[in-house]
Amino acid sequence: MKELNIGLIGYKFMGKAHSHAYKDVNIFFNIPVRPVMKVLCGRAEGPLRVAAERYGWAEYETDWRNLVKRKDIDIIDIATPPDIHKDIAIASAREGKSLFCEKPLAATLKDAYQMLEAVEKYGVRHAICFNYRKLPAIALAKKLIGEGRIGKIYHMRAVYLQDWLLDPEFPLAWRMVKKVAGSGAHGDLNAHLIDMARYLVGEFEEVIGMSETFIKERPLLKETGVLETGLKDKAKAAEKGKVTVDDATLFLARFKNGAIGSFEATRFAAGRKNGQRFEINGSRGSIVFNLERLNELEFYSTEDPTYAQGFRTIIATDPSHPYAANWWPAGHIIGYGESFVDMVADLLTSITKGKNPSPDFYDGINAQEVLVAVEDSIKSNRWTKVKVH
Ligand SMILES: NC(=O)c1ccc[n+]([C@@H]2O[C@H](COP(=O)([O-])OP(=O)(O)OC[C@H]3O[C@@H](n4cnc5c(N)ncnc54)[C@H](O)[C@@H]3O)[C@@H](O)[C@H]2O)c1
Repeated sequence: MKELNIGLIGYKFMGKAHSHAYKDVNIFFNIPVRPVMKVLCGRAEGPLRVAAERYGWAEYETDWRNLVKRKDIDIIDIATPPDIHKDIAIASAREGKSLFCEKPLAATLKDAYQMLEAVEKYGVRHAICFNYRKLPAIALAKKLIGEGRIGKIYHMRAVYLQDWLLDPEFPLAWRMVKKVAGSGAHGDLNAHLIDMARYLVGEFEEVIGMSETFIKERPLLKETGVLETGLKDKAKAAEKGKVTVDDATLFLARFKNGAIGSFEATRFAAGRKNGQRFEINGSRGSIVFNLERLNELEFYSTEDPTYAQGFRTIIATDPSHPYAANWWPAGHIIGYGESFVDMVADLLTSITKGKNPSPDFYDGINAQEVLVAVEDSIKSNRWTKVKVH
């Protein structure tokens, strides 16, 4: 079986999700390639070594510049905060590596275009980790929409709700620093909704938004100034630092096909942990998805006999559902981590067949164009056209 050597940069949240995917992919997917978990990269040697050992990586490296130069690495997987996606991607493309990059593609639109320019110039394969596309229920929604089962689309109504910033003493993690993250709830959460909308509804025409930063300052850590995600050591908190991103961003949209949409991302929705939900209404029916019940897709069809009309809940675990045949027998549900396994199966298969994976950097750019158009609309307080690359 063909083998592809992986170098993964970042070993925390997404580093763990991607490691799990590489480990499991050949158990569940009959694909003609095996990923070799060659090198895990991070900055601090101590925790990096522990992560490399636990996740099953053969080696570790504390400088990504050394990693991308290695001749024995085929794919560079970027699971770091957005501000360094660009430098890693460009250096890796120059070395001829295939790229798998976390979302959002970059911290700025300019960086994102430079990344695209590099992969085009050096002719390397590229993918972005919009993993929710790969859930069986979402891929089934795509199939139903493609078959015309809900007809002409009129509405998309989407929210992505979290609550981890409610506590004003939660420290200033990188996700609250514009220079590092690009934006807050917007680039983090709306990025997923925007990709979902582009995937299921179509390209955006124009947008208008509003945003708010409810807590303007948060505790800094003495040692680093900025905390790593997830740490919450109040004892060590010294002075406060400015929050430079949005806590919540909402926007309205018109799509090129005439549909209209509303979108909301927040980190201040008490009780909502990872509440991504959306509803799409068309001339012949509707679909509804809730990430916290990710095996399910609700479907309503105006073509059912009137006496039997109503939303039905499809458990997307039947072998006839996309990706589901690779998992367990029907009715045996899957979870969050499995979306990354599906994603990595597609990534490796495409690269092995010499095709570009999907979604790719063009999808990353087009999602970023929408993010930026929303930000521009907030500044100008006007409807703003979205550029489609
Ligand atoms: N697809 C998804 O659903 C999803 C979910 C969460 C995060 N993300 C994205 O994944 C990326 C990483 O987010 P995360 O939640 O894993 O963050 P995290 O803070 O949990 O982990 C970031 C990792 O990057 C490493 N890192 C930072 N700077 C580095 C450098 N200069 N060199 C080497 N390593 C460096 C850190 O050591 C850490 O291991 C972001 O782009 C984020 O938006 C995507």
